[in-house]
Amino acid sequence: MPPAPLLELRAVAKSFGGVAALKGVDFTLDAGEIHGLVGENGAGKSTLMKIIAGVHAGDQGEMRLAGDVVRFRSARDARAAGIGMVHQELAIVPTLSVAENVLLGMQPRNRLGFIDWPAMIAIAKRHLENLGLVVDPRAEMASLPLGMQQLIEIARVLFSGARLIILDEPTSALSPPEITRLFALLKRLRAEGRSFIFISHFLDDVLAICDRVTVFRNGAKAGAARVGDIDKAWLIERMIGAGHHELEESYLGEIQLRGPEGAADAAVVLAAEGLGRGTSFQDVSLTVRAGEVLGIYGFMGSGQLDLARALFGKTPPERGILRIEGRAVRLRNTTRARRAGLAFVPESRRSMLFALEPLYKNMSISVLDRLARLWLKPKREREIARRHIAQLSIRPAQPDRPLGTLSGGNQQKVALAKWLTFAPKVLLLSEPTRGMDVGAKEDVVRIVRRLRNEGLAIIVASAEPETVLALADRILVMRKGRIAREFANETVSKDRLLAAA
Ligand SMILES: Nc1ncnc2c1ncn2[C@@H]1O[C@H](COP(=O)(O)OP(=O)(O)OP(=O)(O)O)[C@@H](O)[C@H]1O
Ligand SMILES: [Mg+2]
Repeated sequence: MPPAPLLELRAVAKSFGGVAALKGVDFTLDAGEIHGLVGENGAGKSTLMKIIAGVHAGDQGEMRLAGDVVRFRSARDARAAGIGMVHQELAIVPTLSVAENVLLGMQPRNRLGFIDWPAMIAIAKRHLENLGLVVDPRAEMASLPLGMQQLIEIARVLFSGARLIILDEPTSALSPPEITRLFALLKRLRAEGRSFIFISHFLDDVLAICDRVTVFRNGAKAGAARVGDIDKAWLIERMIGAGHHELEESYLGEIQLRGPEGAADAAVVLAAEGLGRGTSFQDVSLTVRAGEVLGIYGFMGSGQLDLARALFGKTPPERGILRIEGRAVRLRNTTRARRAGLAFVPESRRSMLFALEPLYKNMSISVLDRLARLWLKPKREREIARRHIAQLSIRPAQPDRPLGTLSGGNQQKVALAKWLTFAPKVLLLSEPTRGMDVGAKEDVVRIVRRLRNEGLAIIVASAEPETVLALADRILVMRKGRIAREFANETVSKDRLLAAA
């Protein structure tokens, strides 16, 4: 008889307030396996993982670990059984040092009961080096690129002794070299006998790193296979049904950029000359015309996200001139930027959404406009929300539901929906499709194109080549804070973008 799987779930069901998130799913994971889990936004992936990690209790079903029935009452129970999880939204403490984050809750203490700093730094240093992570254990977490923070969170889970590690969308904030590094790390740990569940909307990543893959659809299992036996079309078909193969394929080949021709006679809406800020970006000059989508691509940390933030007045540029419709403007803060006609959807949805507030409110409020929105009557707010929910296929389609109960990808759609109500002159989107499934990405492409055709000037900043390729008419590539190359009016592919970055 073959040995029992490391983890086996049978008929696991879970509802939230009468809504079934999981409708009786089976799942198995072998020791020393990297197992991919894919499915549309809201399919139930994170919910199942939270049950495995002891965060949620399942309503029904059975879980076996190495053959024995287990029932975790808390994340601590799961940790004690060797299960660790890196959540979709990072759980690091940004104000603490790297070492403190790695040893969180397990810091060595000296005889007086205080944290033994030298020992802690030394232990963290050794652990990080073993994992091949070059980083100062004393550095403050917040000062590090998001990609490194993510790797350190994985290091933390490993340090806690986990032998089964759940990674919920670990690659969405990583640049290609960081992904390569993460995959090398996973393979090494797999060889040592650790097991992983790897959730991702990047199907290429799943096919590249996983041994097996399970597909969820609407809270149920829609298929499982060895990765060598299937391809991307197989996955997409099980995720959202037949006839959608082209969704992902469209980003794989050569893309013909429309270039400035499409909008050549249109007025320049935003023009920047020689923008610079500290070490984040330098000498950035660019223009965006009405009816044009400008893509700004670069690896994580190459300055494109800082630039987007600066254009919106979040961290104003220190040098250079910015013109909106020909007039020089000084965007010292975001209120001014908004008055000048700029709107911004930041990459971190947590910074702009209110988890406890209902959906419809999140579509009309913004941090700065909380009072200004009083003119919108609740009835009208709900109507607008209903329209956006339909247009973006936001699920569940309930305007009154607290935002925090939506799946990650659906929260991202809500963040975008707001700007459909208050159409600005310039729309800045930072990582607009992060965490979205292939179908949702397609919705975003459709909406961005519509806004462009209505005459908006749009800037899309992203570290995902697929995102800029799918959305942009013209692409600037940033490297180390500078514009390294422009692609316009020519064909471009993922490979050519990566080569320029
Ligand atoms: N705490 C909660 N309260 C109420 N409903 C919830 C809660 N957590 C999840 N849900 C609901 O359960 C369903 C499954 O959500 P889940 O987060 O597991 O999806 P997912 O597959 O991880 O999606 P994504 O790819 O967008 O992260 C969704 O309909 C979601 O709205
Ligand atoms: Mg999720």
